Amino acid sequence: MRERILSAMVMAGLIGAAGISPMALADGHKNTAVQGAVDFRESTMTIYKWYLQPMGGMVKGKVPFNKEVFKQKADGLAWAASLNLLEGFPKGSMHDTEAKAEIWERWDDFQAKYETLKTESAKLQQVAAGGDVAAIKAQFAQTAKSCKGCHQAFREK
Ligand code: HEC
Repeated sequence: MRERILSAMVMAGLIGAAGISPMALADGHKNTAVQGAVDFRESTMTIYKWYLQPMGGMVKGKVPFNKEVFKQKADGLAWAASLNLLEGFPKGSMHDTEAKAEIWERWDDFQAKYETLKTESAKLQQVAAGGDVAAIKAQFAQTAKSCKGCHQAFREK
């Protein structure tokens, strides 16, 4: 965020100056595109968290288990996971981010970890619709593991 404001200030300064360098403008556009991708992936992650957290609260018994609410959250997570997360990771988009460079060095692995999230969250949606609490808890654990698996490999602490 701080960097975005800084780069907006730099852009404004450049446009105000007499001789605008086309190279500097092109750089500015590139940064905007990278920032857009970073915003998209961080927003998508924020949505994942919005749905995962209340389910976690129910699974851990911090709040009473409510099958109807759980099902709504599981639907939301499966839908959010179906948005193409990979669009948020164009090659080398390392601007103001916790993403590790290894993402692009081991892209197949990164992609596979995203596929795992999609599969596990789709299963959770199915199991939640069924209403068997023990099965729901087991599948919730698998889903949360798919988040953690990717973070451990590809996100800075
Ligand atoms: C395929 C890999 C992958 C999967 C799967 C994944 N994440 Fe992430 N997550 C990342 C990366 C990489 C970042 C760092 C993004 C950045 O800072 O640009 C991140 C960042 C986040 C953030 C911080 C966002 C921010 O605003 O900085 C949250 C919250 C988050 N993830 C939650 C989740 C949850 C919940 C799940 C599972 C439902 C999940 N993630 C699954 C890779 C993944």
